[in-house]
Amino acid sequence: MVTAHVPTELEALSEKPVASASELAGRFPLTRSEHPASQAHYDTVMKELAFGREFTDHMAHMRWTQESGWHDRGVIPYGPLSLAPAASVLHYAQSVFEGLKAYRHDDASIWIFRPSYNAARLNHSAKRLALPEVETEDFLASLVDYVRADAKWVPEGEGASLYLRPFMFASEEFVGVHPAGVVDYYVIGSPSGPYFTAGFTGVPIWVVRGYHRAGPGGTGSAKCGGNYAASLMPQQQAAEKGFSQVCFLDSYEEKYIEELGGMNMFVVMADGSVRTPELSGVILEGGTRSAICRLLRDEGVDVREERIGIDDLVADIRSGKVTEVFACGTAAVVTPIARLASDDFDVEVPIGERTRHIHQRLTDIQWGRASDPYGWMYRID
Ligand SMILES: Cc1ncc(COP(=O)(O)O)c(C=O)c1O
Repeated sequence: MVTAHVPTELEALSEKPVASASELAGRFPLTRSEHPASQAHYDTVMKELAFGREFTDHMAHMRWTQESGWHDRGVIPYGPLSLAPAASVLHYAQSVFEGLKAYRHDDASIWIFRPSYNAARLNHSAKRLALPEVETEDFLASLVDYVRADAKWVPEGEGASLYLRPFMFASEEFVGVHPAGVVDYYVIGSPSGPYFTAGFTGVPIWVVRGYHRAGPGGTGSAKCGGNYAASLMPQQQAAEKGFSQVCFLDSYEEKYIEELGGMNMFVVMADGSVRTPELSGVILEGGTRSAICRLLRDEGVDVREERIGIDDLVADIRSGKVTEVFACGTAAVVTPIARLASDDFDVEVPIGERTRHIHQRLTDIQWGRASDPYGWMYRID
């Protein structure tokens, strides 16, 4: 029997009505850059569209202090930050971030996918890291004013977008271990191209034992820098073996799959049902994961959020009971997993139609090729 899905806290928060971009515009007044990119540099960046290496002319910023709350809102020229060497983020990693994309539709309008979801998750992360929360409409306004200022950097074309990186960190000049009394928030953006430059090919994933990115009661469900730092060494070792990313297992028994270093995972069963690791408080609650669950359920697919044992998964891939495995996240949308390996197994996984279908369904909504019955797209400009 298919049981009704109870929305998670992030899903419920993301459904709350918010003001339109026009109503919010102007909260972060623009100080225009006197040194914008040259036409030649701009042309090269927009032609090459690498991921995360080149940034636009401006950035949004605001500062929080215990006395004044959030203030000094503005869109200012992009450039190096001035930070005290004693700034606590450099010592204790008190920082959180988000990742989302601005898409240019065929009529040149600019849209963002579920920004209220990212606002809710930023605050979930901030709470866990003892950082101040940001009002949803302040978060949206920072995106609106920043993207409007740098609208020319939102690329057009299949798979292209402006990747947005909101982040906040403890900037107080103090090396004592305590929640910072001064915090800075920024939004920067990087024009990026389609993830699948080589087509819809699957990636090989190393299932890591002995290292974990997070544990019960830790910061796994928060999007904080430290989680990614913890994932780098196993990731590096897997890359040396020729694998794209690592899949982490639960830290108690090393029996159940959790997620990749930067993506959630889905398993497609031969009986038509789809499974994804349950939200245990250790994995990141991906916006892409949430959208995929919703789309599949509305197509009548039985989507089960549950523990998935690695031994069963490998056996089921070998027997054909599992037909496809894919990963998902904002940057790569939906990525087929073509191989899963560890010290004691190595299995190939077919790239199938279900993965292709869900990738298509989601990207059609994001790039405005299909209607958006969920109201996920937020118009910026
Ligand atoms: C650890 C981790 N899991 C999952 C995801 C997918 O989240 P989303 O779909 O919101 O991008 C990400 C990417 O943000 C991530 O870093």
